[in-house]
Amino acid sequence: MFFDLTEEQRLVRDTARDFATREVAPKAAELDKTGRWPSEIVSKMAELGFMGMAVPEAHGGAGLDSVSYALVMEEVSAACASCGVIMSVNNSLFCDPVLKFGSDAQKKEILAPCASGQKLGCFGLTEPMSGSDAQTMMTQAEKVDGGWVINGSKNWITNGPHADFIIVFAVTDRSGPKVRHTAFVVPKGTPGFTQASPDHKLGIHAAHSCTVFFENCKVPDSAIVGNPGDGFKVAMATLDGGRIGIASQALGIARAALDAATAYAKERKSFGVPIAQHQAIQFMLADMATELDAARLLTWRAAAMKDQGTRHTMQSAEAKLYASEVATRVAHKALQIHGGYGYSTEYPVERHYRDARITEIYEGTSEIQRIVISASMLKG
Ligand code: CAA
Repeated sequence: MFFDLTEEQRLVRDTARDFATREVAPKAAELDKTGRWPSEIVSKMAELGFMGMAVPEAHGGAGLDSVSYALVMEEVSAACASCGVIMSVNNSLFCDPVLKFGSDAQKKEILAPCASGQKLGCFGLTEPMSGSDAQTMMTQAEKVDGGWVINGSKNWITNGPHADFIIVFAVTDRSGPKVRHTAFVVPKGTPGFTQASPDHKLGIHAAHSCTVFFENCKVPDSAIVGNPGDGFKVAMATLDGGRIGIASQALGIARAALDAATAYAKERKSFGVPIAQHQAIQFMLADMATELDAARLLTWRAAAMKDQGTRHTMQSAEAKLYASEVATRVAHKALQIHGGYGYSTEYPVERHYRDARITEIYEGTSEIQRIVISASMLKG
């Protein structure tokens, strides 16, 4: 099998690389230090079509494919992991489910402005007491005349402080043997829907997340995304795509760390020669490059399967599991190669080391990916 990119995919990647190198990378250290929301970069990503990449043009998107999305996510994340996840949440966790499960009216009024990047979306699944075991959520929506009343809270909501819309998952039926959940799309400003201030985190400082609250928040029937009772499936199918985005973010972080380590190893001397001439360093660089390539192939395979319309639950989980753990290992080795300078904020590798860590946690921890993979294997 020969896996190569099409001319269009190369063009998209080169455009993203040029933008990321010129306009994103020079700001990454400042964004990390200040935790400033990068509104000018989000606007430019919208202009370039990066906020709704795989959404058809008829719905406000760029009409590209998931492989192109993975390529752009890697480029943007190599420059700034925070900008990468802002983009990925809007693309895969918000636009994708509205495109796949939303009504015509939702596609017109909500998807189109979010896919074009005029508006921003976020995804509310996790709760203070329900992360990995997502079905145990407490947030509930009660049927009332003309709509539903949502009560509960969701936390770690990336883009939450800035988003114009949230897709939120709530329990709507506890009467049967299985609890049923429903997905709703709620605009910011809806009475009863509020956001706390941004969370303080180890890394991805410019990608703001927060807790959001629903207190007797009334939404119309038309806010339901997909069928009532199918919300958990909407969430899981969405994460099948989202995990490709996070795998690509991890690739970008790992690549940035490897590039920094390679450049440093050629410059820094010890025992009379550049450290790149020591076999200990050469072996580290070789392992980092090999693992990065393997992670990229897994990620591109999952993206290509999504484009073919093939179920890719297991392949996305494998890509996310492997790429995120590679990002951590590569950033760890890159810091080691830099020695004491790697531990200093003067060099970017300490940022890559901190940013890499979250990719093993959000959109399903590494342990959850292993559950998803083994469940797919054992199903037969
Ligand atoms: N696609 C469609 N349907 C799916 C599915 C998928 N990928 N996976 C499961 N389902 C369906 C099942 O078929 C089943 O349907 P029935 O009820 O009809 O039988 C139903 O969903 C329940 O499935 P399971 O029995 O497998 O569910 P479970 O309770 O055992 O949990 C889990 C499965 C994989 C552990 C799941 O809870 C999970 O993925 N947890 C992690 C949650 C997560 O990733 N959270 C991330 C939050 S988002 C985030 O991080 C955003 C950010 O800030 C960037």
